[in-house]
Amino acid sequence: MKSIQDCYKLNNGVEIPCIGFGTYKVTDAGGAEMIREAVKCGYRYFDTAAFYKNEEELGRALALSGIPRHEIFLSSKVWKTDMGAEGTRRSFEESLRKLHTDYLDLFLIHWPRPDLENKNWRGLLAETWKAMEDLYLAGKIRAIGVSNFLPHHLDVLSEISKICPAADQLEFHPGYTQEAAAAYCREKGILVQAWSPLGRSRVLAHPLIQELSGKYKVSPAQLCIRYALQRGVLPLPKASAARRMRENQDVFAFEIEREDMHRITSMPPSGWSGEHPDFEKACTRQNTF
Ligand SMILES: NC(=O)c1ccc[n+]([C@@H]2O[C@H](COP(=O)([O-])OP(=O)(O)OC[C@H]3O[C@@H](n4cnc5c(N)ncnc54)[C@H](OP(=O)(O)O)[C@@H]3O)[C@@H](O)[C@H]2O)c1
Repeated sequence: MKSIQDCYKLNNGVEIPCIGFGTYKVTDAGGAEMIREAVKCGYRYFDTAAFYKNEEELGRALALSGIPRHEIFLSSKVWKTDMGAEGTRRSFEESLRKLHTDYLDLFLIHWPRPDLENKNWRGLLAETWKAMEDLYLAGKIRAIGVSNFLPHHLDVLSEISKICPAADQLEFHPGYTQEAAAAYCREKGILVQAWSPLGRSRVLAHPLIQELSGKYKVSPAQLCIRYALQRGVLPLPKASAARRMRENQDVFAFEIEREDMHRITSMPPSGWSGEHPDFEKACTRQNTF
């Protein structure tokens, strides 16, 4: 990858920009300004979700940007409470309406289970995926995928699916690289996308990240984003100001050496959000290593 315009190829041949713009918490009046700024900075891939409650804001800002729809890569996600055949179709149509578009580039199942008590989550997952496959086969979505799926959730899909997911969006950053899920995805040709690629700032002050950002003369955020790219992972950083938006895509003029890549991959667990698909949210101590 040489620039933000370069793409990964999904397992169905669809091209996807190698860095996306994360829009979680990009809401309200200031949200439109942030999106406009991100477009100006060159971002063309926008990651949203029904849960973020910003699809309307995002759709309006993109429509006003003047960038043709086919030059934008737009992804959204179906939320836990909308899983199932009917809910998935309804959620998809809502996303289209709010985003002012008639197709999505990528549509994901946000989490594999609606809640931890639901014993029928496998059945619900099968229904949800079948509805996604139907929308894909009807030409309304260019690629379908999942988020927060670990190998055992992906196995459930592989037993019932006609179509292999194109992407799995996982929490992925130095200190939390989900090696089991990443290896499974690599083997099956599923592109891993990194949510919280900066560990939502929690890993930026880690001594190893600080040391290596000094060595390569880049910011800690640039180091994290470059690390994801060198792992073949697609990072989705979110930033509020133009300076950071530019910084987060200025990651193509340096390369992290093999030894340093291994040091980052092997560093002690750090910066985990506490989110896990099979457990209640864990309490994590902020800014500790
Ligand atoms: N699938 C899922 O379940 C899931 C879950 C969470 C997130 N996501 C997606 O992933 C995206 C990114 O994750 P995230 O928003 O949680 O975290 P993130 O991108 O890792 O971190 C965002 C934080 O880092 C700060 N930041 C950005 N650029 C920086 C820089 N160059 N230097 C220093 N600080 C910087 C931002 O501050 P400012 O905003 O103040 O600039 C913000 O506080 C989300 O927006 C969303 O699209 C998906």
